[in-house]
Amino acid sequence: MNQYAVWGNPIAQSKSPRIHQLFAEQTGRNLQYIAKLGDETNFEAELAAFFTQAKGANITAPFKNRAFAIATQYSERCLLAEACNTLKKLADGQLYADNTDGVGLCADLARLGWLKPNQKMLILGAGGATQGVLFPLLQAKQQITLYNRTPEKAVILAEKFANYGQIQTACWEELVNQSFDVIINATSLGLQGKYVPVPASLLASSVVYDMQYAPHQDTPFLRYAKSQGAKHCSDGLGMLVNQAAFAFELWEGVLPDVAPVLAQLQTEMEAGS
Ligand code: ATR
Repeated sequence: MNQYAVWGNPIAQSKSPRIHQLFAEQTGRNLQYIAKLGDETNFEAELAAFFTQAKGANITAPFKNRAFAIATQYSERCLLAEACNTLKKLADGQLYADNTDGVGLCADLARLGWLKPNQKMLILGAGGATQGVLFPLLQAKQQITLYNRTPEKAVILAEKFANYGQIQTACWEELVNQSFDVIINATSLGLQGKYVPVPASLLASSVVYDMQYAPHQDTPFLRYAKSQGAKHCSDGLGMLVNQAAFAFELWEGVLPDVAPVLAQLQTEMEAGS
């Protein structure tokens, strides 16, 4: 039986084991997928021990950069992300690193009908979450503006990705006079119950996506966006299921149908499980 796990700290809240169980049922695969609480000190050694038996792993916070450093083979999107959310053991024992967050986001935007070429996209944040998704978004011909509290970090990312498409930065004052087709929250502010107070004029004329999700309720950013007149909002649960689907495809060679799994997960979360 192929063995997999998601590694993170904390990890108890992770939906990944349930998602991969549903993928396995759907595709008729007999596999084991568990949650592993990574140890800050011994993460590398524990992961190496896991891979003596296992075929693959998902990696979540705070280990994406450390997993990236452990691998010896990389997808192009992973190299550009400089962070890894999916590891696969190759036939020769080497670890191959991928990052499926960006394609997962693109697939979810496409599901919503929000991924049209040449549209103007505002991304809030210039941390690891943003870097993880920029390459696939640029490949999907999104014209990206980065806004970040610390402008220098946005400038560094915009320069790094300038060869791959249209990407620029904006300061707060410059945002007010612009309009966007899509606004994406990629900051970690929601974890503190906070949000970037994007002007209402921008939110009301755009679709609004939060890469985070919160069980049973809207994320702080989506609550704020709706209060400011945003009519079309989505949290990142669909991104989570889609990034998992691309990891499953890398390991098992078949891309699961995301829609029924997302619907099942939503039902279960509403029921409180
Ligand atoms: P992640 O991997 O989740 O992206 P990260 O790399 O630490 O985590 O990045 C967090 C992002 O949230 C950054 O864009 C950060 O802005 P700074 O670069 O200015 O730190 C943003 N963020 C976190 N707390 C914030 C706050 N209180 N106000 C505005 N932005 C914040």
